[in-house]
Amino acid sequence: MGYQRAGFEVVGVDINPQPNYPFEFVQADAMALDVEWVASFDAVHASPPCQGYSVLSARTGTGHLWAKLIEPVRALLKDSGRPYIIENVVGAPLIDPVVLCGTMFDGLRVIRHRLFESNVGLFVPSPCTPHPLCHTRDRRKRHYGTTNEWTDYVQVNGGGNCSVAAARDAMRIDWMTKKELNEAIPPAYTEWIGSQIVAHVSCLN
Ligand SMILES: C[S@@+](CC[C@H](N)C(=O)[O-])C[C@H]1O[C@@H](n2cnc3c(N)ncnc32)[C@H](O)[C@@H]1O
Repeated sequence: MGYQRAGFEVVGVDINPQPNYPFEFVQADAMALDVEWVASFDAVHASPPCQGYSVLSARTGTGHLWAKLIEPVRALLKDSGRPYIIENVVGAPLIDPVVLCGTMFDGLRVIRHRLFESNVGLFVPSPCTPHPLCHTRDRRKRHYGTTNEWTDYVQVNGGGNCSVAAARDAMRIDWMTKKELNEAIPPAYTEWIGSQIVAHVSCLN
């Protein structure tokens, strides 16, 4: 959605059906895509599965159970010769990434640090500010009972700490299920990145 807002016509690819995806969709294994087809686009974004790289899987020693697609995806995107972006979680082996945080964008109420690697120079909107307290449903936390899921920052992940409606509001995404929200990034992030890629592509043309 962010790339569409930045000015791109968007085509999405996923190995699994994505019935709520709002744009043209191709169900396919990204690793089997024809590089000529990939190169037919002005730019390519990839969000490979993050479970194998996350801080949680490092802590639980389960990283090896998940497919690690960043390296082969990077090879495909580089072969395409197009401007590319790879997005992933903190801990993923991205090269010289910039980090976006929800506190950098008005209207978001998630922290959600995400890394963005690109062969286009990217900048961030502002430094990461001190993080606000997140809403909690955990009675053991000192700030239990003092926060509100509609006005404070929330966590949107497998555990989570808020209703689906509040998670949608916090991420500014109203078309996804909770499971889809858990894997998504706010459109504000990709609109920010997309605007820089549009400027780059416009200079090339
Ligand atoms: C982090 S999620 C990205 C979600 C989505 N891009 C978003 O921001 O809402 C990773 C996605 O990669 C998909 N996936 C996993 N292996 C894949 C493969 N070999 N080819 C294409 N998609 C794959 C998963 O089904 C999952 O939807």
